[in-house]
Amino acid sequence: MSGSRRILGQGLVLGTVVLLHFGQLVKGTEDLTRNVSSTFNEGCNIPFCKNSNNGSFVNVFHISARGQNDTIHFVWSSYGALTGLVAQTKNTAVFRIDWEKVKNRSLNAISFEPKGAVLFSSGVIFSRLIEFDDVSDTAKLTPASKIKVKSFEDLQWNNFNMTVSKTKHSGVFNSSSLAKGGNGFISLMVQGFQDNGRGKVLPQLLHTSNSSYFEFALKNISTHFNNSRFALELVFVHQDKKNKTSFSISRSIADQYTPAVFYVDNVKFTPSSKDNLGGYVSWKPVTYTKEERHLGNGKLVHQYGLKTNVTQLWDHLPLYSIAHAFWGDLKDLDITSMNISFGIDQDGFYKETNYTVWCGLVGYGEAPLDGLSLLIIIVISASIGIPVVLIVFGGSFMSFRNLLRKKKGEALLVDPGIN
Ligand SMILES: *[C@@H]1O[C@H](CO)[C@@H](O)[C@H](O)[C@H]1NC(C)=O
Ligand SMILES: *[C@@H]1O[C@H](CO)[C@@H](O)[C@H](O)[C@H]1NC(C)=O
Ligand SMILES: *[C@@H]1O[C@H](CO)[C@@H](O)[C@H](O)[C@H]1NC(C)=O
Ligand SMILES: *[C@@H]1O[C@H](CO)[C@@H](O)[C@H](O)[C@H]1NC(C)=O
Ligand SMILES: *[C@@H]1O[C@H](CO)[C@@H](O)[C@H](O)[C@H]1NC(C)=O
Ligand SMILES: *[C@@H]1O[C@H](CO)[C@@H](O)[C@H](O)[C@H]1NC(C)=O
Ligand SMILES: *[C@@H]1O[C@H](CO)[C@@H](O)[C@H](O)[C@H]1NC(C)=O
Ligand SMILES: *[C@@H]1O[C@H](CO)[C@@H](O)[C@H](O)[C@H]1NC(C)=O
Ligand SMILES: *[C@@H]1O[C@H](CO)[C@@H](O)[C@H](O)[C@H]1NC(C)=O
Ligand SMILES: *[C@@H]1O[C@H](CO)[C@@H](O)[C@H](O)[C@H]1NC(C)=O
Ligand SMILES: *[C@@H]1O[C@H](CO)[C@@H](O)[C@H](O)[C@H]1NC(C)=O
Ligand SMILES: *[C@@H]1O[C@H](CO)[C@@H](O)[C@H](O)[C@H]1NC(C)=O
Repeated sequence: MSGSRRILGQGLVLGTVVLLHFGQLVKGTEDLTRNVSSTFNEGCNIPFCKNSNNGSFVNVFHISARGQNDTIHFVWSSYGALTGLVAQTKNTAVFRIDWEKVKNRSLNAISFEPKGAVLFSSGVIFSRLIEFDDVSDTAKLTPASKIKVKSFEDLQWNNFNMTVSKTKHSGVFNSSSLAKGGNGFISLMVQGFQDNGRGKVLPQLLHTSNSSYFEFALKNISTHFNNSRFALELVFVHQDKKNKTSFSISRSIADQYTPAVFYVDNVKFTPSSKDNLGGYVSWKPVTYTKEERHLGNGKLVHQYGLKTNVTQLWDHLPLYSIAHAFWGDLKDLDITSMNISFGIDQDGFYKETNYTVWCGLVGYGEAPLDGLSLLIIIVISASIGIPVVLIVFGGSFMSFRNLLRKKKGEALLVDPGIN
């Protein structure tokens, strides 16, 4: 008796959550269409950004998503350390790059005019690629791990312009610097969107017009240890020193889009004032170890928590990136960092496939989260009626939880902890 009452109670709560979510989705698709355009090395007419410099191209890709009341800018670049910036501006803002200053690696070479046009800004810097020898096959990077570190600043990049898709607002940063043999590379694919939607390939992340998608891949990279795995150091930049950056893990209720992955990792840049919503970098903790992605080659992405002790960061912050070009001295901002590593124990290490790809989003506002699919909700609400839905959902919620518990014992792809 009390059991069924509890189920009903949970059903009510969950039902309310689902309905709220439903409302959000509907509102979202109506309001959030943006006019998207993209440019490569905008306004540059000096040889520096047209030709390669000692084998490396200067690549700055600017995606601009213009809405009714504001524009979200995504600026991705491999110049200096590989970096993505997100800026929410007024629609009147003009994006400017002073290329002579960029060439000089000067601060404040990138700006929006007039002053005060930027309402919110944040960024992510890919600072270092860490290769570690996983002697005991735990897939965990520890202070004792033998490591080989490569700074993203030291890589050479191909011409991004060759990969731009004007219709998809996408392109690929591609470096062969660490490849073994002829056909390896490190790459970062980036993309902007005019609407809400979902990726066609796993992990089928949900995106909005406030977000830019990225895919980071390591293909045929040469390794230095017998049991090499790779990890990434990411540096997060938040315009506002007082309003902090935080990290949280959300549980997603349904896994129909990304099988066996029940979590979303979310770095949140808290709003700097009541007038904006802050921003995020988010991902599902999964990497695929073959180009053709499926459940079987999905492996864990382990995160090591947000590091907030900046004094430990200063030693190895990149010397230059477009974050420097935009904000100037990063010490004036809220800086945090995080390591993530790819793979799970007994998966044969990186050399098993010599490939790994990791996908995520950067954006303005709240990170999009999966709900139950709209179609399912509509069909059920229409044919059975809301009260029944509440009870059914209560029950399925319980069995979901049980499933989750059961699967946890069997090396399920979850990453629930911070350590
Ligand atoms: C990029 O390539 C296009 C042709 O595909 C060319 O017209 C354009 O000038 C190039 N942009 C830069 C900045 O080199
Ligand atoms: C290319 O490399 C040489 C020697 O390392 C250096 O002197 C020169 O400034 C470099 N040129 C550019 C454009 O970076
Ligand atoms: C997008 O562009 C179209 C055509 O130029 C224009 O009619 C529309 O108002 C624009 N929408 C926004 C949100 O700027
Ligand atoms: C733009 O601002 C107006 C006035 O504040 C508001 O009514 C409208 O809903 C806003 N549009 C969007 C897409 O947020
Ligand atoms: C670039 O650097 C050179 C020498 O360091 C300096 O003379 C020049 O004024 C600088 N240019 C800009 C635009 O900062
Ligand atoms: C990246 O570079 C590698 C090696 O140069 C090449 O084989 C591959 O096609 C490139 N990928 C893209 C998307 O340009
Ligand atoms: C890596 O390179 C080898 C030989 O060059 C090639 O046979 C193999 O297909 C490549 N692996 C991937 C994942 O592309
Ligand atoms: C790597 O593995 C090979 C073959 O198993 C072994 O001979 C070699 O000593 C190992 N190297 C290291 C550094 O462990
Ligand atoms: C931090 O954000 C809150 C709103 O979330 C805002 O009231 C406060 O003024 C912000 N602090 C600063 C220093 O901007
Ligand atoms: C931050 O790191 C520095 C250097 O490792 C250390 O001396 C300091 O105690 C740390 N601060 C905190 C608050 O942990
Ligand atoms: C991956 O690269 C290593 C080292 O070059 C090689 O021994 C191994 O066979 C490669 N694995 C595959 C699946 O190609
Ligand atoms: C996207 O940005 C608009 C402001 O232009 C905001 O109203 C909306 O809530 C944001 N969407 C999300 C999902 O954060």
